[in-house]
Amino acid sequence: MKTRADALALLHEFTQSDALRKHALGVEEAMRAYARWFGVTDPAEIEKWGIVGLLHDFDYERNPTEETHLHVGTKVLRERGWPEEMIEAVASHADYMKISRFPQHSLRPMPLHR
Ligand SMILES: [Fe+2]
Repeated sequence: MKTRADALALLHEFTQSDALRKHALGVEEAMRAYARWFGVTDPAEIEKWGIVGLLHDFDYERNPTEETHLHVGTKVLRERGWPEEMIEAVASHADYMKISRFPQHSLRPMPLHR
């Protein structure tokens, strides 16, 4: 089972920028708040939302364009055994990935790239 520590290690492997690391941590906290806002009470589920926030831009520093950002990231996540639900939630933050945010997964509250 993947943990927050795994997500943080992956983020640090792919992202050297302090600003991008702080962005990831900020979005992680926002996702935890969104989870509670949407009525999630299970701590494991709130943790999952947080990890999605932590990972959402992990590939951005190396892949900053619409042609690469998340296309590469989702491939890396799949290769490393992350759950598909979390991979799709990460990918869904960019409209250009054309992954529906609603209603099948509650893990997808954020449109960040339009
Ligand atoms: Fe992004």
